Amino acid sequence: MNGTIETLRVELDERGYDILVGPGLIATAGEHIRPLMRRKQAVVVTDEIVAKAHLKPLTDSLDAAGIAHHSIILPPGEGTKDLAHFGRLVDDVLACNIERGTMLVALGGGVVGDICGFAAATLLRGIDFVQIPTTLLAQVDSSVGGKTAINTAAGKNLLGAFYQPRLVLADSGALATLPRRELLAGYAETVKYGLIADAGFFDWLDGDARKVLELEPAALNRAVITSCRMKAEIVARDERETGDARALLNFGHTFGHALEAETGFGDALLHGEAVALGMVLAFDFAVRMGLCNGQDATRVRRHIEAMDLPTELGAIGLAGKPDALLAHMGKDKKVRDGTITLILPRRIGDAFVTRDAGAQDLRAFLAEAA
Ligand SMILES: NC(=O)c1ccc[n+]([C@@H]2O[C@H](COP(=O)([O-])OP(=O)(O)OC[C@H]3O[C@@H](n4cnc5c(N)ncnc54)[C@H](O)[C@@H]3O)[C@@H](O)[C@H]2O)c1
Ligand SMILES: [Zn+2]
Repeated sequence: MNGTIETLRVELDERGYDILVGPGLIATAGEHIRPLMRRKQAVVVTDEIVAKAHLKPLTDSLDAAGIAHHSIILPPGEGTKDLAHFGRLVDDVLACNIERGTMLVALGGGVVGDICGFAAATLLRGIDFVQIPTTLLAQVDSSVGGKTAINTAAGKNLLGAFYQPRLVLADSGALATLPRRELLAGYAETVKYGLIADAGFFDWLDGDARKVLELEPAALNRAVITSCRMKAEIVARDERETGDARALLNFGHTFGHALEAETGFGDALLHGEAVALGMVLAFDFAVRMGLCNGQDATRVRRHIEAMDLPTELGAIGLAGKPDALLAHMGKDKKVRDGTITLILPRRIGDAFVTRDAGAQDLRAFLAEAA
């Protein structure tokens, strides 16, 4: 699979779609998108940073495919995922004289994908959209599965919709311009798939992660495809997170969400960094509760540490703050009936959902965690 394009199908009946993974997909996007179009009009939504590096090849390919297009360029960063930007975005898209058959194209990371996807879900009660994820996090996670959302004053991702794209184009070449810190943060989500359901994948990452992070084509393709395949399978089983299958994808996220909330959802701690530490905490908590063996937890910690991702609360100034963290965990969307839902490991490659993690146990654990 060196440098070739691979296709995966997300099996969701009439909402099913392909994920293409490999190099050069932005420059050939027009020909991939055109057959799906009911009207040869596209509105590309991106951010300023991604626009500089990747918008021109995309619009050139739309021109080459005979697709009329407009581009809307948002400011970069999580702050863009708010109601004010959403309001301006939908006004700007509507000003392009769109119809139901117009295709929205999200070119960017998870921020662009989430706000553009939510716009697609709601504009004219739903127009088609394509995801062209340009961060590793977006390629292995946010662009697949149809969750779209923006943030409100009450919290993150509280206003959104399940709305599937018509196509995902994950261009590995796009990652060449991604800052290393963003690459590592996305890598944490890749590790997550190994930890929840595929010990063999984790073993491979544990040996070959450097190749992935150096963007060696075959290794990168394998990491992205394996991650997308696992997410696609889970989404196909549980599209709207009504069962436990999709909840497994939240491994490391309940702890991680608390860390992000306490550090202000900003540059101090990126989402993937929070997930990395959240996964370490989930392993350590499981060991403490007698659910998982200590060797696996140590192995996970060492791997995450070796990838320059955070493994200790103290490193981000959150040691000795159990009450603040627990309060955030209690506000997590995954709370049901007052008990905290956690995804915990039995071992590397095997995680399960528990709805009755005791607040006292968690508090004691967080109070002692370094
Ligand atoms: N919908 C879902 O299922 C889902 C899942 C996970 C995360 N998310 C959401 O995703 C968001 C985070 O996504 P993200 O980590 O991709 O962040 P992001 O979109 O903010 O991108 C990170 C930074 O990298 C820049 N960038 C993007 N692609 C680049 C490239 N190829 N070269 C250079 N710079 C580039 C961006 O401009 C931004 O500054 C969060 O809002 C989170 O809630 C959604
Ligand atoms: Zn995540």
